[in-house]
Amino acid sequence: MVSIAIDGPAGAGKSTIAKTVSKKLGYIYVDTGALYRTVSLKFSAAGATPEKIENVDEILSNLSVNIEFKDGEQRMILDGVDVTDKIRTPEVSMMASAVSAIPAVRAFLLETQRRLARENNVIMDGRDIGTVVLPDAKIKIFLTASPEARADRRYKELIEKGMDVKYDDVLSDIIKRDHNDSTRAVAPLKPAEDSIFVDTSGNTLEESVAALSEIIERELANV
Ligand code: DC
Repeated sequence: MVSIAIDGPAGAGKSTIAKTVSKKLGYIYVDTGALYRTVSLKFSAAGATPEKIENVDEILSNLSVNIEFKDGEQRMILDGVDVTDKIRTPEVSMMASAVSAIPAVRAFLLETQRRLARENNVIMDGRDIGTVVLPDAKIKIFLTASPEARADRRYKELIEKGMDVKYDDVLSDIIKRDHNDSTRAVAPLKPAEDSIFVDTSGNTLEESVAALSEIIERELANV
């Protein structure tokens, strides 16, 4: 099986690009952020906040998270219930970032991610895919863009979904999440040494998809 890892900060366009390229290649696309988002719902339901998270082991031992693929779309199942449509709010983003810093949570989700890559050709996106989850991935890409370019993209996405958000709040959330995700002790966001670094600032999404497709097809031809 072939694995392609795409890591990078929030809003760099990882998921849109990975989805498009995976369709082209006939690989499955795995969005690992959705796993952390789904787990964070359970912590929120138990009364946790990004500042105060307690009873981690107890919550994890009563929790089942599954990924299903329906019509090529990844659906997230928490304790048997499809929560896919609930995990994209700014509040869930901040909670997921906090929960993902807990080593027991990362350990809990590791095998699910590795199993998907053992059983399928995958493009997997996240923060630590090339460094921790799939260190032997055939191709590793670190996709980034300036905080402003990423906030702009994320703001437009949320407005299109009908959410009432302000650009300045989206930008400050992005900066805060970058800080959380890259300074945590376990599996922080950072480029793998053997990753290809791509900066999408100033590109349209179409340009970024085209650039990434070209890199991946070129690299696949070499492996
Ligand atoms: O990719 P995303 O924005 O949906 O991810 C939500 C949070 O989950 C992100 O702020 C950090 C965490 N995450 C992680 O720690 N490791 C991953 N492989 C993917 C996401």
